[in-house]
Amino acid sequence: MNILRNRRILIGVTGSIAAYKSADITSRLIKENAEVKVILTKSAEKFITATTLEALSKNHVFSSDSKSSNQDYTHLELAKWADILLIAPATANVINKIANGYGDDLLTTTCLAYNKDLFIAPAMNPEMWNNSITKSNLDKLEKNKIKIIGPDYGTHACGDTGYGRLASTENIIEKIKGFKSDKILAGLRLLISAGPTREPIDPVRYISNYSSGKMGYSIALVAKQLGATVELVSGPTMLDPIDKIKTTYIDTADEMACVISEKIKNSDVFISTAAISDYRPTNFSETKYKKSEDTLNIEFERGIDIISSVSANNENVYIVGFAAETHNMLENARKKLKEKNINMIVANKVNHKLKLGFESDYNKVTLITSEYENEFDSGTKLDISYDILKKIHEEYYKKLQLTNHHVEKSQS
Ligand SMILES: Cc1cc2nc3c(=O)[nH]c(=O)nc-3n(C[C@H](O)[C@H](O)[C@H](O)COP(=O)(O)O)c2cc1C
Repeated sequence: MNILRNRRILIGVTGSIAAYKSADITSRLIKENAEVKVILTKSAEKFITATTLEALSKNHVFSSDSKSSNQDYTHLELAKWADILLIAPATANVINKIANGYGDDLLTTTCLAYNKDLFIAPAMNPEMWNNSITKSNLDKLEKNKIKIIGPDYGTHACGDTGYGRLASTENIIEKIKGFKSDKILAGLRLLISAGPTREPIDPVRYISNYSSGKMGYSIALVAKQLGATVELVSGPTMLDPIDKIKTTYIDTADEMACVISEKIKNSDVFISTAAISDYRPTNFSETKYKKSEDTLNIEFERGIDIISSVSANNENVYIVGFAAETHNMLENARKKLKEKNINMIVANKVNHKLKLGFESDYNKVTLITSEYENEFDSGTKLDISYDILKKIHEEYYKKLQLTNHHVEKSQS
């Protein structure tokens, strides 16, 4: 099925060095049989010509001069016309403007008048990307249901290396298709665990880990967008609750186990992204350890292995685990898949220098099942969530078909 056939896509192109890539995006969308119109900002006109985009889109290209005068409602007409508005590449300037409700040219005024699916694919220098004002405005956009695609990691035209490269055309089109596709997870009940656990040592101390909960929360958000009914069990994080996702908050691994064993009964899929402490203090000290000795020895014992006990008792649930590793990632992940007898494992490398894994907005993962192994490109946790959920959807229904087949065979 061609999801984008006859979809009316309005592309906003802004003044980034990556503006030339909008020609490729336009041409790909036309090949998908979409109808495309383009708005160029004044700065974008310095990077790419309207002639190129007119030829590729087979439509008139709007510039910032196509201003809305008293008689001119171009911004309203374009906002009504479009099914999808994609800004690619999106400069830091336009991101910050849209997040704050500015409407001082045709593109931003059209955004103000537009209430459907808005996708923004940022492209900028890594320092501009890491700028805290840009970051907080991106958060604002995401909270307003605007979808951010990318950016990718790599070397920039200015010579710097880092996040900020425009996502690939492939990725941009895939993401638009994904969100415009049918609600592929409709009817499925997903239970997701996220964040760290805290194991108390004494009344003022605990042992925990760097998990921020971002991966689990991202999967929960995207799963909801794809139509699933989602429940989240969350350790302590700094993240805001997600609208319309029932969330149960826990502190310790035992509390997590207790909530999950209850909720798993009403779930089709369990995705365990939580970083559950493997060890906990053997004894909790009722009083605070005092600074009286040079060293302090605390004994730890193995804690509960939640995912193994879930898999042993819930054959019908599709179970996905995460393996965060610093070395021998694939070997360890494959071992975990077998030992814990689960359906899929998402292996990810923890690398604080590359800002991957714990605490980061980015991840790089390899999906592993007993028959499949695929390493995905690094990307934002939201983008990666979509890739993971698409594969879970495929594998879940494969498993269901196999189970039904066995049942039919045993009954005949
Ligand atoms: C050579 C050059 C390359 C630029 N590339 C980018 C870029 O990739 N991303 C960005 O946010 N700004 C970039 N800028 C700065 C924007 O062009 C500038 O902020 C401009 O005002 C953006 O206007 P617009 O958002 O209305 O298109 C670049 C500027 C120059 C001169």
